[in-house]
This record gives sequence, structure tokens and C-alpha cells, in this order.
Amino acid sequence: MTPDPDTRISGVARLVDSCLEGSVVGSFTRIGPAVRRRLTRFEELERRPGRTVVLTGATSGLGRSAAGALGALGMTVVAVGRDLRRLDEVAMEIEAAGGTALPEACDLADLAEVAGLSERIASMLDHVDVLVHNAGALLAERTTTPQGHETTVAVHLLSPHLLTARLRPQLEAADRAKVLTMTSGGMYTEAFDLDQLEMGADYRGSVAYARAKRAQVVWTLALQAREPAGGIDLSLVHPGWAATPGVSSSLPAFSRALGPLLRTPEEGVDTLVWLSSLDPGVPHGGRLWLDRSPRPLFRLPRTRVSDAVLAEQGDALLEWLDRATQGAG
Ligand SMILES: NC(=O)c1ccc[n+]([C@@H]2O[C@H](COP(=O)([O-])OP(=O)(O)OC[C@H]3O[C@@H](n4cnc5c(N)ncnc54)[C@H](OP(=O)(O)O)[C@@H]3O)[C@@H](O)[C@H]2O)c1
Repeated sequence: MTPDPDTRISGVARLVDSCLEGSVVGSFTRIGPAVRRRLTRFEELERRPGRTVVLTGATSGLGRSAAGALGALGMTVVAVGRDLRRLDEVAMEIEAAGGTALPEACDLADLAEVAGLSERIASMLDHVDVLVHNAGALLAERTTTPQGHETTVAVHLLSPHLLTARLRPQLEAADRAKVLTMTSGGMYTEAFDLDQLEMGADYRGSVAYARAKRAQVVWTLALQAREPAGGIDLSLVHPGWAATPGVSSSLPAFSRALGPLLRTPEEGVDTLVWLSSLDPGVPHGGRLWLDRSPRPLFRLPRTRVSDAVLAEQGDALLEWLDRATQGAG
């Protein structure tokens, strides 16, 4: 039987790791992977020629780093981005690393574009082994999409929901496909409340971002709960705090304060690339991963809910997302 990746860590290592985890700053900065690599072996990743990955947000920061790393494992990467010049650059990086690049332009805020993207991918690939919802942004100003939704919600929830639904035949055609969604430490600060998800006049970028990231947790667990045994594995991946164009532009003070303590993009995507490279039979779904181990879904008592409430939240969110994405494209 394929071992669960969470069973490799010894008792002492687990104790040290949980102290680090509790410290937040130690866990999320570069200290996290530096210590954890010493506590437990981070095995070399296996090359996976022929594995197909759809990766959003491939043109910058973490996504760009992941694109090269997945290419270096021989994978075929559908690199999704908005900027054609940067898409060309990332395609060259994937090919130079040894992978196959299929660059695709799409503004993920626009559901019509997401529907078009899904059609193009479905016509190119008969199966998708890994779908990575990495694109994300913390937007200082409230903006709305062509469909009238607040943009943070559109990019983090509506577009992943639609893309996952439209690519379901390709995901089901793969051997136990993986859907990985990039989460954030900001998520821990907000409880889920569907009525408060799309912010209006009360909009604050950091709150809208944290609520959308919390809702991605609810979404991932709800979809995982609906999967039959041996079906698709859906997980959340936390990069820690990494130095990227996104962080330096949206959180300049934070970026300056942490400076060299921020992870490199390569350190930030290590767990994402590791999960993408696992054998199809290795179970990882329904969990949140950081530094190759599962981490808590809640940190603050005011955000914590029981499993039963989480399931109810998931039902309500999926129903809302189905309605909001119905008829796209
Ligand atoms: N860096 C960190 O410390 C950190 C921590 C926690 C979570 N995260 C998460 O990690 C992910 C990547 O962040 P990053 O730090 O690498 O930021 P980044 O450098 O700003 O990269 C974000 C990527 O998302 C794309 N994107 C944003 N809005 C889009 C849209 N409407 N349509 C298409 N693509 C869009 C961007 O495309 P363009 O190139 O066209 O802008 C870019 O490729 C995000 O989900 C972020 O929330 C990052």
C-alpha cells in the first residue's frame, strides 16, 4: 500500500515541528524549511515525463518558479497568464528546464475567458494530472468583473470553480488527478461567512483577500467530501511568506520588515512541486500542506467551526458558486 506522506516524521521531529508551527513567524519564513529539512528527509523529486499540469498565475512569483520546477521534472505545463510577453518568457523557461510548455492567455477575472480557456485545454489534452489554482492578488481598490462580481472573489473562487468543473472529464481521465489551491496565512484571520464574502462599500483589500482564501478552504473540503474513494485529490498548499512581485507591491511594509527572512520563490513552491510529483496513489486530499506536512485549518478560536458546520458552509458555497458560474461562456 502507498504510505501516507504524513507518517514519515518521528516523535521528536514532530514536537520540534509543532513548536515551529506555533511560532507562526518561524514557520512561515525561511526558518521553516531550513529547520524542517533537518528534521525529516525532503526526498529528491522523481521526474514525471508526460505528466500534464495546468498552472494558473504562471507569469510571476511563485507560479513562475513552479512552472520551471515542474518543467525540470519533465512535465507538460499549461502555463496560464494575462501578459503575453511574460507568457512567452515563462514558456521558454519551462522548455529550457526540460519540460513542454503550452502557454495560454486568460484573464481569470472574466468567466467568459475562463470558459474559453477550459475549451482550449479540453481540445488539447485528453487528461489533466494536476490542476493548480495559484493565481491570486490582494487588490487595494474594489473593482468588478464583466459579470459584475468583486474581482478578488472572481479570481480566487469563481474562476477555480468553473475551471475545475469544466475540466472534470480531463481530471477524471487521469490516474487520480490532483487539484492544488494556493492558500495564504491571511486565511487564518477570517471566519467563513458567505454573506460577507463579496465585499461592497466596506471593501478592504486585505480582508477581501483573507475571506476569499478562507472560502477556498471551505471549497476544497466540500469538493473533496463529494469525491468517491480513489477519485480526485484536492488539497491546499501554503507557500509560507515568499519574496515575489505580488508581495512587494501589495504589502511593501511587510516585505521590507521581513526582508531576507522571506522565502525564495523556490522555497515557497517546494511543497506544491512535491505534491505535483507524488505517485497518483499517495493520499493527500482534504488537507492543507506547508513544508511537506499537513497543517491546521484554523488557528484562531473565533474562526473555528465544527466539521458539521464546515460541511454546511461547503454545501452553501458550492450552491452559490454553481449559480454564479452557470451559463458562463
Ligand atoms: N508570496 C507569498 O508570500 C504568498 C503567501 C501566501 C499566499 N500566496 C499566494 O500565492 C499565489 C501567487 O502569489 P505570488 O506571491 O507569486 O504573487 P504574484 O507575483 O503577484 O503572482 C500572481 C500571479 O497571479 C496572476 N493573476 C492575478 N490576477 C489574475 C487574473 N485576473 N487573471 C490571470 N492571472 C492573474 C498574476 O498574473 P500577472 O503576471 O498578469 O499579474 C501572476 O501570474 C497567490 O494565490 C497568492 O495569494 C503568496
